[in-house]
Amino acid sequence: MRNFSSDFRRLVRSIMIVTAITLGTSGMVSGQGAPADSTQAAGAAAPAAGGSAVNGDPVAGEALYKANCTSCHAINKRVLGPALAGINQKYNDEAYLIKWIKNAPAMVASGDERAVKIYEEYNKAAMTPFPQFSDDDVRNILAYIQVEGDKKPEAAATGGTAGGGEGSADTGVSNFMIIGLIAVILIAFLVILVLNRVIATLERLLLNKGEAILAEEDEVEEEAKDKFAGLKRMAKNKKLVFFVVLGLVVLLASFGTVEMWNTGVHTGYQPVQPIKFSHQLHAGTNQIDCQYCHSGAWKSKNATIPSLNVCMNCHKYVQATEKYDGEISPEIKKIYTALDYNPETQAYGDNPRPIEWVRIHNLPDLAYFNHSQHVKVAGIDCQKCHGPIETMEEVYQYSPLTMKWCINCHRETEVKHEGNAYYDKVIAAHDQIKKGEKVTAAVLGGLECGKCHY
Ligand code: HEC
Ligand code: HEC
Ligand code: HEC
Ligand code: HEC
Ligand code: HEC
Ligand code: HEC
Repeated sequence: MRNFSSDFRRLVRSIMIVTAITLGTSGMVSGQGAPADSTQAAGAAAPAAGGSAVNGDPVAGEALYKANCTSCHAINKRVLGPALAGINQKYNDEAYLIKWIKNAPAMVASGDERAVKIYEEYNKAAMTPFPQFSDDDVRNILAYIQVEGDKKPEAAATGGTAGGGEGSADTGVSNFMIIGLIAVILIAFLVILVLNRVIATLERLLLNKGEAILAEEDEVEEEAKDKFAGLKRMAKNKKLVFFVVLGLVVLLASFGTVEMWNTGVHTGYQPVQPIKFSHQLHAGTNQIDCQYCHSGAWKSKNATIPSLNVCMNCHKYVQATEKYDGEISPEIKKIYTALDYNPETQAYGDNPRPIEWVRIHNLPDLAYFNHSQHVKVAGIDCQKCHGPIETMEEVYQYSPLTMKWCINCHRETEVKHEGNAYYDKVIAAHDQIKKGEKVTAAVLGGLECGKCHY
């Protein structure tokens, strides 16, 4: 019985190996938690406190600058007004700059030489007066401009990283599932191989040992002459054939499932637009506020795409001629053509045609999504759902826009109700209900257009 016991030990060992492999791989499979929320936009970069000769608070200045100046100015680029980097050095006269920023048109009207010169240089475009600013407000803005102007070279280098991983949003069935399936198939193969050995061992044990082994050896010798003996033997092994077929079926089925699962999910969708409009240039480099063009996002269901007249606020003057040997940029010309505008005479014709932007984000009609509920009431950044738009040369769909995506965020996000006008109304209505007073649907927002209309 010595042989039996050694065979038995081999059998036990094989089973242990299979168990270990299976446990190991399945541990790997379940060890993978849900992927971290990749739609989380990177936080806004904290402004660096640069040492500058300007006395003001750049942090306070940043907010004022962004709210009031970015529609016409950029730090390092001419927009409607001049680039503002180095402005403190250019004038080296704080009192003068304060006077200018508080009321530029008055300075021009007063005939101040420097003011008139810059006014002429910028095609007599008037800068908005800011009488509401205190001197300190203006000092803060100047400090911010100083800090930003100083850090330009780095900013350009790091700008691209602000948005974090691009297009990495949840795609439903993850690559991980495919890897898992492949692992399962590999394990199945290993199991067959080991089981085959076990079965062979058991067979040998049961058969008359001597004869069987001799016969087998003869067979082996014969087969050695045949090149494809190995393959033939495998083809005869019904269990092996069965598992190979099973493996292929599982593989095909898993790819099919992934395909079907992602039908109707358009993450990464990036159509070519009729005008090469770059968010990286406008919202990134020139820091034009999203609100300047998509003000609807704060007020209504739709974020809205701006009309070409909004573009003309700048592109009447900004023609990027330096890039095209003095000619007007062909892309900007498309704006003029669409509006039937003649840049020579600065007159509009009577044959305007709208530009047909290709819509990127599109929920099916059965789902209702309201921007202002999320942007204004919940205070969610555009980037949380749309990704690092300010780094996109061409916009692509960043989030999957699936029901799962909406639901997951609703499960995770806490409602900010304190100091929130929307909730003040709700709380007031609740108080009325508690007191037994009459509450109409109108009090609960039943008159808002967006509650009933798409
Ligand atoms: C409506 C557009 C507009 C807004 C808003 C605006 N500016 Fe201007 N700014 C201009 C224009 C145009 C000029 C060029 C002078 C002119 O044409 O009046 C200018 C000139 C300047 C200059 C002088 C630049 C130089 O090189 O001499 C400074 C400084 C300045 N702006 C600062 C600011 C600050 C700070 C803010 C925000 C508080 C601001 N501007 C908001 C349009 C604007
Ligand atoms: C100067 C105007 C302008 C500014 C500023 C601007 N956008 Fe846009 N945006 C457009 C135009 C025009 C389109 C349509 C063309 C396109 O898709 O590129 C658009 C398209 C989009 C789209 C895709 C819409 C669709 O079809 O689904 C999103 C999302 C978007 N913008 C978000 C933003 C965010 C977020 C910001 C601020 C970081 C911003 N935009 C700043 C003009 C602007
Ligand atoms: C607040 C000012 C502002 C607004 C509004 C604005 N742009 Fe621009 N745009 C710029 C600046 C600044 C540039 C850079 C010009 C340069 O490179 O010299 C630019 C560049 C461009 C270019 C690239 C030109 C080229 O060939 O390099 C296109 C195309 C363009 N804008 C289209 C639009 C469209 C379409 C809109 C309206 C949806 C719009 N812009 C609104 C300021 C603006
Ligand atoms: C909670 C997620 C979320 C946030 C936050 C969000 N959006 Fe959207 N956005 C969407 C969805 C979903 C759609 C598709 C809506 C549809 O098809 O009805 C969309 C569509 C758009 C569109 C194209 C169509 C339209 O509605 O006019 C633009 C432009 C846009 N968003 C801009 C913005 C801007 C700018 C902000 C920030 C002020 C913003 N979004 C914030 C989810 C969001
Ligand atoms: C980034 C997180 C986030 C995503 C993604 C998101 N939402 Fe919301 N949504 C919120 C928050 C937070 C509120 C609560 C806002 C408030 O205070 O009323 C909300 C509120 C709502 C409400 C109003 C609920 C009520 O009872 O007043 C609707 C409807 C809604 N979301 C629909 C959607 C749809 C549809 C989608 C997907 C296309 C979506 N949301 C995606 C965060 C999100
Ligand atoms: C309580 C729900 C409700 C609210 C709130 C509401 N509407 Fe309506 N509205 C309707 C219904 C229902 C119709 C269709 C009536 C019909 O076909 O006779 C309609 C029709 C319309 C029409 C006519 C559409 C057409 O094709 O004839 C317009 C325009 C309109 N509403 C605008 C608004 C505006 C703007 C607001 C916000 C100030 C608003 N509605 C608020 C329910 C509402």
